Amino acid sequence: MSRRRFLKNLGLASAGLAIKPITTAAQTTAKSLPLKDSPLVISTWIHGMEANAGAWSVLENGGAALDAVQKGVAVTESDITNRSVGLAGRPDRDGHVTLDACIMDHDSRCGSVAFLEDIQHPIDVARAIMDKTPHVMLVGEGAQKWALENGFSKVDFEVPIPEVQKDYENWLIKSEYKTGVNVENHDTIGMLALDASGRMAGACTTSGMAYKIRGRVGDSPIIGAGLFIDGDVGGATATGVGEAMIRTAGASAVVESMRRGASPDEACYDIVQRILKKHPGVEGMQVGFLAMNMKGEYGGYSVYNGFNYALRSNDRNEMVDAKYMRTWG
Ligand code: GLY
Repeated sequence: MSRRRFLKNLGLASAGLAIKPITTAAQTTAKSLPLKDSPLVISTWIHGMEANAGAWSVLENGGAALDAVQKGVAVTESDITNRSVGLAGRPDRDGHVTLDACIMDHDSRCGSVAFLEDIQHPIDVARAIMDKTPHVMLVGEGAQKWALENGFSKVDFEVPIPEVQKDYENWLIKSEYKTGVNVENHDTIGMLALDASGRMAGACTTSGMAYKIRGRVGDSPIIGAGLFIDGDVGGATATGVGEAMIRTAGASAVVESMRRGASPDEACYDIVQRILKKHPGVEGMQVGFLAMNMKGEYGGYSVYNGFNYALRSNDRNEMVDAKYMRTWG
């Protein structure tokens, strides 16, 4: 108990260190202009439509962006037809489904969980880690133990679910491990929301790359790779082959481009270009980014065609095709 209090105090002490924010044009503008199109939520891929509906139920009632993104991506985690988010996702090559998620808000508060098994909502665990511990990230057995001690329970159904187990057994026949563009590895959900009070938050959750090496963790739970929010600038999230985002601190790089004045579209384009430059010869690797600034301007960019995102605002509820660099197929 005293150790816990010590760690808590340590966390508070660090949080209390005054770090002077860099003042940028974007920051000044965001604070001086009324947000004309808030609340607003965007999220990756078609499953984002339902996830956005979950987030919208919080945003339209004046709720916080942080609660909205948690509720929104949890919808996708519960979707038993989804093969790359939640416990209906594809397993690693040893047959275990392992989940990664993170959440972050405009005040740089964040929580993350990785390599988590048998708990339905990793995003709720990530949020609880953020709210209840002095840490940012817990992984694996320790994360599960902590979650069970803090009100979460293991699911009472078999994981992988039967259809997924059958696919896995078919996959075992050849055991081919590919990281190309296909439905198995690029439909993580990443979500960014701006609420009616101008607060931003983001969330990202995935079962990771299908048939990955046991223990592999991608970008989705890594703050700065799969998700990053800075309340002075905006936020970004990513989908696709996570190793590329980790190598370039992708989501953080997008936010830093916006800090220097790039629009969300331009900032996503910059990082996609950088990834291609740093990863020559990765033919077929799909990576997509979404970004939003504090004015509620948003955009997206991917390596290949096919990446789209769901948008919900007061007057829009639709899919938007992201811009892309290359054509596949
Ligand atoms: N972007 C999800 C992953 O690579 O695990």
